[in-house]
Amino acid sequence: MTYQITTEPLPGVLARPGTGCYGVFDHGAHVWAWQPDGARPVLWLSEHSRFAEGQAVRGGVPLIFPWFGPGPQGGLKPAHGFARTSVWSREAIAELNGDLTVRYRLDDSMVGEQPNFPHPFSATLTVGFSAAAVDVAFGVTNTGTVPFTYEDALHTYLAVGDILGVSVEGLDAMTYYDKTAADPAAPCLQDGPVTFARETDRIYVDDSGGLLVVDPSWSRQIRVEKSGSANTVVWNPWTVKAAAMADFGDEEWPTMLCVEAANIGANAVTLAPGETHVTTQRVSLG
Ligand code: BG6
Repeated sequence: MTYQITTEPLPGVLARPGTGCYGVFDHGAHVWAWQPDGARPVLWLSEHSRFAEGQAVRGGVPLIFPWFGPGPQGGLKPAHGFARTSVWSREAIAELNGDLTVRYRLDDSMVGEQPNFPHPFSATLTVGFSAAAVDVAFGVTNTGTVPFTYEDALHTYLAVGDILGVSVEGLDAMTYYDKTAADPAAPCLQDGPVTFARETDRIYVDDSGGLLVVDPSWSRQIRVEKSGSANTVVWNPWTVKAAAMADFGDEEWPTMLCVEAANIGANAVTLAPGETHVTTQRVSLG
């Protein structure tokens, strides 16, 4: 397998092992494709995504940092922080026996003045592509002299045949917060597998490390494992939200599901000077 440095639609690294595809953009250190040989794409990418500086890519694995959504108290912009729209430095590419590893770095000197996050930090994103899995590891180090707190998420978009038949196993009996409920701060309890019949936007308190997305329509299962993450976000915008997003096709919502490894709100990460935290996620078939 050989990889290429690409410039279209954004600069990044692309490999085509046989019939498959592995791809990551420097913009946002954004993993956008993992398709093992002979399989359908596992990561979903909208046909309406923007691919432009300063814009978030709709699909793949947006990297959410240093706040989730509008932040813990609300009102922060850009939504989901600045990491996904920053251009990261590509530090290393390694290829071994058909596996490809790409490592990126971002630090405070590269992101301009950030009044909502005025902290010295150094972040790394390492993605490992293989025939068996895509592994994403996001590390943050406090390079300053006082502690800081951040939220993060590996906001992974999974491709499914039909969301109406999909179930997510592994979150049974977990507490979650339903962002579509009248009171999004009211805790709810998951009963059995998660199924989808309307807009779904939930933050689970879940550090269990593994779940399974069962997709009968495509006769496959996607395993999502994680570490360093106290929350799992499950999101499908359904009809109205999909129609409201300019970079999301009105008819695309049945074909995707986000399963995010996150640390949000009460579970935000606090780092002492010199300390590092790593959030990881592994996506595989079967
Ligand atoms: C999810 C949030 O993580 O991201 C949703 O829980 C949000 O509330 C979604 O709508 C997409 O966010 P964005 O900023 O990429 O449109």
